[in-house]
Amino acid sequence: FKVPQPTNEPIYSYAVGSSERQLLQDTLHTLRNKQVEVSMRIHGKSVQGSKKVAMTCPHDHQHILGYYYEGGKKEIAEAIDSALSARAAWAALTWQERVSIFLKAADLSANKYRMELNARTMLGQSKNAYQAEIDSACEWVDFLRFNAHYAAQIYADQPISSLGVWNRLEYRPLEGFVYALTPFNFTAIAGNLPAAPAMMGNTVVWKPAPQQIYSAALLMQILEEAGLPAGVINLVFADGPEAGEVVFKHRDFAGIHFTGSTKVFQTIWQNIGNNIANYKSYPRIVGETGGKDFVVAHASADVKALVTGLIRGAFEYQGQKCSAASRAYVPASLWPAVKSQLQADLAKIKVGGTEDFGNFVNAVIDQKAFDKITSYIQEAKHSKEVEVIAGGGYDASKGYFVEPTILLTTNPHYRTMEEEIFGPVLTIYVYPDQDWAATLRLVDQTSAYALTGAIFSQDTYALSEAAKALENAAGNLYLNDKCTGAVVGQQPFGGARASGTNDKAGSYLNLLRWVSPRTVKEVF
Ligand code: SER
Repeated sequence: FKVPQPTNEPIYSYAVGSSERQLLQDTLHTLRNKQVEVSMRIHGKSVQGSKKVAMTCPHDHQHILGYYYEGGKKEIAEAIDSALSARAAWAALTWQERVSIFLKAADLSANKYRMELNARTMLGQSKNAYQAEIDSACEWVDFLRFNAHYAAQIYADQPISSLGVWNRLEYRPLEGFVYALTPFNFTAIAGNLPAAPAMMGNTVVWKPAPQQIYSAALLMQILEEAGLPAGVINLVFADGPEAGEVVFKHRDFAGIHFTGSTKVFQTIWQNIGNNIANYKSYPRIVGETGGKDFVVAHASADVKALVTGLIRGAFEYQGQKCSAASRAYVPASLWPAVKSQLQADLAKIKVGGTEDFGNFVNAVIDQKAFDKITSYIQEAKHSKEVEVIAGGGYDASKGYFVEPTILLTTNPHYRTMEEEIFGPVLTIYVYPDQDWAATLRLVDQTSAYALTGAIFSQDTYALSEAAKALENAAGNLYLNDKCTGAVVGQQPFGGARASGTNDKAGSYLNLLRWVSPRTVKEVF
């Protein structure tokens, strides 16, 4: 059995005058002018919690997009019961029957719901049209189609047998339920975290980040329209620690699929550790967490390519990607040219709401993020070790806007070289050209994270030397390219150290975490 050979979903350009641009603008207009009510979905039914919460636009925070109703421990317990009761029937389907539902969801997302998925991501998470397109249209669809393809490969992978002996591997789902705890910054990741374990026969409790509920509700609707049976994925809205108290104490907790902060992941791991003797099986812990992603330039680097890599890597989606470039190392000989090119390019960048397609930078996600990011900028402005060479302004009166900001530091261990800010702030350290080898050691040792990184060099030996020296500093390494924008099927994504368990989203490596194989030997 083979599933259709996947190819990456084409990216719409939304060019001026194109019909897709008009369609997306119309959809944005319609959604802005109506308020939606979003419910949890437990065992295929809408369930409303008791706390009514407004969903707002980050770039226009007084504008209400709708409401959701948050639940609590009771609803989490119901969602777990629902997942457990759905498990046997779901696991008993053939994998082809399961996979076909997700392939149908991919087609619905790529066609019927493409504009609405993008519009919800643009309004609710403040992504520009291109950032929404590569996320809620392309990456989400790619996750579904490529995972179907990888699942088929996994199920086909069998051990050798001999005359009179037939050895088989049965890729059973985990015994229990899987908890998907998902981030605000990628609609695609939010959908993939419950979908991937479900594809492998598991049933799931899915708790999205509050800021992504507006688009999560549509993902859930699409999955149900595609034929996902009741109870396979149960969508809940609740306070994280409160939900965790129910989930991590449950005997049938079988695994967590997480993307979010390092701190939350470490707390979850501790909770799981504290309950370890109570579980039926050792739970699978799969997490993709923070990053402090580097760009290192050799003296041979192409300045234009480097500057494009820095600007796109650091400022697309306001730097709110775990993969975002946030610390850069530039040789002194290149610095004058790099600085003037950065300043010239940044002067052309517009900051504002997502409805105006000319805005490259939109708002950061909420007040808490705005406060955190701007406190770093404030501190930097007063530091003797830092010079603000671009941006530095911010204003939360209408939306949570922070200008793309570049800090130049004389201290390679200054706070913003080491700590994840999750905002549009890039810090640059200029190193003496002759210190290339020492700088590579510095890059490796500066941060606790190891998610993404980029090396710019036109000298093959220098490129090779850097790739080797930074072997453990990134799970996704880019040579002469920006360090963001991994494409499913092309650059499996994830990192180690404090950045996660490196189980590579959108690859068979991830799907293997959601099965517990049984080996069967039969003698004739
Ligand atoms: N996969 C995204 C990227 O590569 C980050 O989560 O940018």
